[in-house]
Amino acid sequence: MSTESTPPSPPGAAAHELYTHGHAAATLRQHGQRTVEEAGAFLLPHLQPGMSALDVGCGPGSITLGLARRLAPGAVVGLDSSMAALAEARAGASAGGLDNLTYVQGSVYQLPFGDASFDVVYAHQVMQHLGEPGAALLEMLRVLRPGGIVAVRDVDWGTAAYWPAEPGIARFIEAHFQTWRRNGGEPCMGRKLRALFNAAPVSGLEVTAGDWCYATPAETLAWGESYAERLLTSPMGERMVEYGHATRAEVEAMAAGFRSWAAHPDAFWTFTQVAALARKRIAR
Ligand SMILES: C[S@@+](CC[C@H](N)C(=O)[O-])C[C@H]1O[C@@H](n2cnc3c(N)ncnc32)[C@H](O)[C@@H]1O
Repeated sequence: MSTESTPPSPPGAAAHELYTHGHAAATLRQHGQRTVEEAGAFLLPHLQPGMSALDVGCGPGSITLGLARRLAPGAVVGLDSSMAALAEARAGASAGGLDNLTYVQGSVYQLPFGDASFDVVYAHQVMQHLGEPGAALLEMLRVLRPGGIVAVRDVDWGTAAYWPAEPGIARFIEAHFQTWRRNGGEPCMGRKLRALFNAAPVSGLEVTAGDWCYATPAETLAWGESYAERLLTSPMGERMVEYGHATRAEVEAMAAGFRSWAAHPDAFWTFTQVAALARKRIAR
């Protein structure tokens, strides 16, 4: 049973896709550990204090908070379709005591801002969940000033490599891909970012890749436990069952598989993270 109540959706969000991960406590807790130093490393060299920025699909806001600290006194806005995520983000912002950071509910397809409102528009691990990423990128560019920076980063789950072999995890990856695509998203979005940006009115495109790697007991236990808990308490596991991609017993076996893999002294996990950064083309 999901611990998540259904939040009201902003105009335009629900029609396009379902968000695969949902906003259960275990999911928000894991996303809330991200930092701008890691998730925005490809963007940081382009930032200066005083710039304004929009963080689209900001989730629980730990990256947004880091952006706001770096850009102060520039205005930073975090936007998400989920009120549950925004509640976490607002709590973090008030603890951080920043007066240049605000959060708004909205859809990436219909951003509640005028044209050319921001110097930077950023989205971390969001494109992969969108049924129409090209339309979303165009809307992000609409609210960006000409010459401003658009920056996105997405995982490519097709590169996931782990050891030791674990049948529960292999079964999870198979059902996760099917469920994710049925929801309208793309688990291998990372490899498609260059194509996405090539179709948009941008210049100076830079596509780079790095990885997330879990190779210490603390890292593998945190990753494995988080996915086990998310499988059992969030819409990720529930929808696998609802769509007929796995039985409830298989979802429980996937969670057990993550836990036993995580505790193995040889446990190792990696997958590729792709970043794309470009400038909004200036009309001549
Ligand atoms: C994987 S989380 C990433 C959160 C944060 N950027 C991070 O990396 O920690 C994706 C976020 O995108 C949001 N989202 C999904 N579809 C959206 C849409 N159409 N408009 C706005 N936000 C959306 C979800 O609610 C979720 O908080």
